[in-house]
Amino acid sequence: MMSEKSQYEAMFSGVIGQDYELLNLICPLATKMSRLVGDKASEYAAQTIGNLNVVELGGGTGITTLSLLTASDKFIILSIDNEPVMQEQAKKHLHKWEADGKLAFCGDDALTALNNIATDSIDIVASAYTLHNFLDTYRKDVIQEVFRILRPGGQFINGDRYGLDDVSQHTQTIQHEVSGYFKVLTQINKLDVLEHWIVHLFSDESENHVMREAVALTQLSDAGFSNINLTNRLEVNALVTATKPGY
Ligand SMILES: C[S@@+](CC[C@H](N)C(=O)[O-])C[C@H]1O[C@@H](n2cnc3c(N)ncnc32)[C@H](O)[C@@H]1O
Repeated sequence: MMSEKSQYEAMFSGVIGQDYELLNLICPLATKMSRLVGDKASEYAAQTIGNLNVVELGGGTGITTLSLLTASDKFIILSIDNEPVMQEQAKKHLHKWEADGKLAFCGDDALTALNNIATDSIDIVASAYTLHNFLDTYRKDVIQEVFRILRPGGQFINGDRYGLDDVSQHTQTIQHEVSGYFKVLTQINKLDVLEHWIVHLFSDESENHVMREAVALTQLSDAGFSNINLTNRLEVNALVTATKPGY
């Protein structure tokens, strides 16, 4: 009999295919974080009646989107991603939900897309592994826009790379992460993927990108959020939730 975990993974492999399997192999914590984003959104949905408007930032190939779609049938999702190659794959993987009116796509960059969404109109803004890619100044603007579009009581849910405040401990964690990439990707002879991950990591770790925990949580508080929580820290990954206070 299949365990609950393997059923979930089989479903993701079936819908997303190789992209999911490779990510799961290189960075199992990343696929786990998408699942946690879905779980958190599902907890929110359980306390409400009727459909919920969800905005997803950086849908990529659709892994987090699928986690959200399967978390609750109340969700009507707008998935934003400004990289057409990634979004085309998500459209292919998730066409069933798009055809059912549960999912729509937007190809604008996150800030432009948010600028075009009405104030107090969205129940949940969810994301995984997107905000850490932003320049810190752009991220600050995005967080302010997320706050504006959420309705009072609405929730921000982000599973992402939140740098450790202890810089030495952070460096050790990254060194361990890099060793893991070499181990897995040399074993399956995917040196092109290894190069891509290491090159990308230099951007993630650069001073104007790294999303350090204390700074990120202060940024949410400065934007007006309350109930700000960082949970499920798994190495450099963590789940952050925050609520827009009711009037
Ligand atoms: C690492 S992927 C994460 C995909 C998915 N959420 C997951 O966890 O598997 C990050 C995605 O964010 C998108 N992205 C990066 N910067 C963006 C921006 N400024 N606006 C919209 N999407 C962006 C990228 O194109 C990419 O598809």
